[in-house]
Amino acid sequence: MEIKIRTGTLADCPGISLLARELIRWEHSLNREIGEPTPWAGSEAEIRKQMSDPGTRFFVAERAGAVIGYAKAVIHGGDRRGRLWRRVIDLLTRRPRANFSSSGGLIPGIFVAATERGAGIGRRLSQAAELWLREEGLSRVYVHVLQKNEPALQFWNENGYSPVTIVLDKPLN
Ligand SMILES: CC(C)(COP(=O)(O)OP(=O)(O)OC[C@H]1O[C@@H](n2cnc3c(N)ncnc32)[C@H](O)[C@@H]1OP(=O)(O)O)[C@@H](O)C(=O)NCCC(=O)NCCS
Repeated sequence: MEIKIRTGTLADCPGISLLARELIRWEHSLNREIGEPTPWAGSEAEIRKQMSDPGTRFFVAERAGAVIGYAKAVIHGGDRRGRLWRRVIDLLTRRPRANFSSSGGLIPGIFVAATERGAGIGRRLSQAAELWLREEGLSRVYVHVLQKNEPALQFWNENGYSPVTIVLDKPLN
């Protein structure tokens, strides 16, 4: 049966929530230091709240009414008007540009059900997210990936993403 990629709606929240919780568990299994998952994280209520933010959009892969994958895209670093004003102020005050600006689009979550992987669904979801961010006037998109998440690193690399910064971490005990 055909797989449809479309914008997620409130009716998709239960399906997205199940996958979002799997993503949290998966990332936690890779890196126990990133915090214990809470009951709130990935809950339907939380997904609904995020969906109501105009700077956030969910995309879902749907087959026969079931959500089998999702991606979340976020406009990062202020709304468009805010960014425009900041650029004008930076220009007028000749404020030095930051070495690395993280404003732009962010894809903070993408998950495809394990049995559905390797069929191009992740690529279609990320492309849908990128298209929306482009339409919103953004010219760059970022993702944060755990160093240990090798399949995801490969996936993003195959889709044209390359490393910009590396976060180093050391336990202080
Ligand atoms: C990462 C993920 C979303 C990819 O979804 P997917 O539907 O399997 O990906 P696609 O089939 O669209 O893959 C596109 C390309 O990425 C690469 N790729 C995808 N999965 C890969 C893997 N496990 N290992 C190596 N390369 C991979 C391949 O080059 C693939 O193209 P090809 O099949 O033509 O060779 C999926 O594996 C997933 O949900 N993982 C768990 C959650 C996760 O880690 N999310 C990322 C958080 S940053």
